[in-house]
Amino acid sequence: MKYAHSILIGGIGDDAHSVGIRLLELGLRESGFYVLSLGIRNDIRTFFKYAKDFDVIMISNKNGHAELYLKDFPDLLNEFQLTNDTKRLWAIGGSLSVGESDFQVKKRYLGMGFSIVHPKPISFLQVVENIRQELGQNGIPPKNILSRNKPKYDVRINYDDIIDRQWDDEELDKQRKEIIKEWPTGKEVMAIDLYNNNGEYQKRSLDQLLWNNKVKKGFPLLQPRTGVADIAQQTSKLQFLEESGSNVSSVQLDAACRSKMYDKAEAGVELSLERKTSQLNGFPIPIYGVNKVRSMVNSLNNPFQLRGGGPDHRFTYEIALSAGIHALEGGFICYCLPYDKLTNPVESMRNWQYIDRLCARYKQRHSVNVNREYFGVLTATLIEPSIAIVINIIQALMSAQQGVVSITVGYAEQGNRSQDIAAIKMLGELTAFYLKKFGYNQCRLTTVYHQFMAAFPEEYSRAEDLIFNSSITAAKAGATKMMVKTPVEAIKIPTRYDNADALRICRRGFAASSAAVTNYKMIALEKKLIEKEVHQIMDAIIEEGNGSVARGAVKAIESGIIDIPWSPSIFNANKVSTLRDVEGAVRFNHFGNLPFSTEVKELHQEKVHIRQYMERDSSTFSLLEKDLSRIWKNEYKQWPLDGNYVV
Ligand code: 5AD
Ligand code: GLU
Repeated sequence: MKYAHSILIGGIGDDAHSVGIRLLELGLRESGFYVLSLGIRNDIRTFFKYAKDFDVIMISNKNGHAELYLKDFPDLLNEFQLTNDTKRLWAIGGSLSVGESDFQVKKRYLGMGFSIVHPKPISFLQVVENIRQELGQNGIPPKNILSRNKPKYDVRINYDDIIDRQWDDEELDKQRKEIIKEWPTGKEVMAIDLYNNNGEYQKRSLDQLLWNNKVKKGFPLLQPRTGVADIAQQTSKLQFLEESGSNVSSVQLDAACRSKMYDKAEAGVELSLERKTSQLNGFPIPIYGVNKVRSMVNSLNNPFQLRGGGPDHRFTYEIALSAGIHALEGGFICYCLPYDKLTNPVESMRNWQYIDRLCARYKQRHSVNVNREYFGVLTATLIEPSIAIVINIIQALMSAQQGVVSITVGYAEQGNRSQDIAAIKMLGELTAFYLKKFGYNQCRLTTVYHQFMAAFPEEYSRAEDLIFNSSITAAKAGATKMMVKTPVEAIKIPTRYDNADALRICRRGFAASSAAVTNYKMIALEKKLIEKEVHQIMDAIIEEGNGSVARGAVKAIESGIIDIPWSPSIFNANKVSTLRDVEGAVRFNHFGNLPFSTEVKELHQEKVHIRQYMERDSSTFSLLEKDLSRIWKNEYKQWPLDGNYVV
């Protein structure tokens, strides 16, 4: 019989962050605890449903929206304690608030009945130590581990629901009528004849701006991320950034709207106005609606893009397009598997086909060339380039099938300059190759480089240096556009001044780029490797689908040919894992069902072995924990990591 403490972990509300939860799950298990993970996006009631079997209940929230989803916690806790009088610990941690001080946050949650509260991220070791200490102090004994209730999920896929052709107008219009009922602001969508009062649209086309920059081989266009709850603040922030040299204006959709919990977003707007500081982690487009968003877009000079993150943005993107927005971001794999727990990939595919077809129809009917962009893999953490590239290719093919002709493919910096440069170059080349192979010759294809998207250095000067050097990499890689981080990334949502500072740092990086040394030999080797990997995966997908990329992609997800490390989705195989090598480049540690040749596999294995040998550490968890935390803890020598990650 085995005795252990048992821990229930999971994310709350609209939060999509999955990496930390997964790391805790693996690490706590390795430390001897019995662990059940509920994954991301749980209602607080779900925690209470399973709580009685556990000694510690750990709620994770990384996007600062926790408060919106914990209103009922004190009452539920009281009710629960009436029938369960054994002692247990309630813990909450992550990045708990967008706008409040750590002191306020701690006070609130302790007052609500939590016994452990961490308003900001702490290291894994601190988490374990803290739990052990609290368990001891509260005299909670380890218990006999018997089988426990677990959530059951339905992961069946219905291949008959896949549509592998261009949608016709009736199909789109039929859905459209229902979709615009999702929230009252939908009424405005049909009432507006888009471009009658928007003659300026073509002049501000993002497609045109990107294309011109690609042709003239300019430095990457600069795009800062922004998103606050109040539209007046949002507008003035974007105006300020245009004056500070941003080339593309954009907003991030807030997490509540991403999950279609519009009532929570509305409550977040009210709370923000009351507290005079944004309590939402993005801008809630659907809450403001077409007319107000249109005024905002028209008060700016740059092209305007909406960026999101969720498997169903049909309603929000209807509002955005009616408001005259020039570009939309997201795709059926990159905003499903890395971002969502329960949505079936076939359903996600249909949602994104709807959006692609809608964009294409704006072109047909109003001569408006809406740019479509994708992120490779949104978990963005230790993503080997071939995974990101394959996902971009598939999504580009899906968009092109619906008639989209302006496409931007994306990749997030991992930290080894040669690998990152090779990745952006191959992303462009290979997407172009497959678009041509499938007969889509009309597309204008460009690339976007995301400055490091995983946990950022906490030290300001380190973050500054990362942004500077990342800009050099992007310039060397010839990316058309760059998503810009800020030096306060690890600390808070940036102010306009933080964003403006970041723009200046990037321009300094570009100016320094021609003098920076590059390892051409290494870049060439990485390019060759990526090319082989991508073709091997794409061949397998096309074969699985019997020529149909749509079917092949879904089959590949099911069989683990597409497998995204750290994905929160119940549809993801979760067999692939990656580690950094001694140069900081990302390599496969477990291949799962990736259809790689022996030659490719051996190369990765060798690099991983050298890392294990050099660090005298063969525990995968321990190496992973280092890879996930060394950057934010500032425990690395220099960015990029080439030549100095493990020495
Ligand atoms: N404002 C600024 N940056 C944002 N990001 C997301 N939402 C916002 C926002 N409202 C950026 C941050 C974050 C990444 C996922 O996107 O850099 O880490
Ligand atoms: N989709 C996002 C982007 O590239 C990722 C960041 C986020 O989730 O807000 O802008």
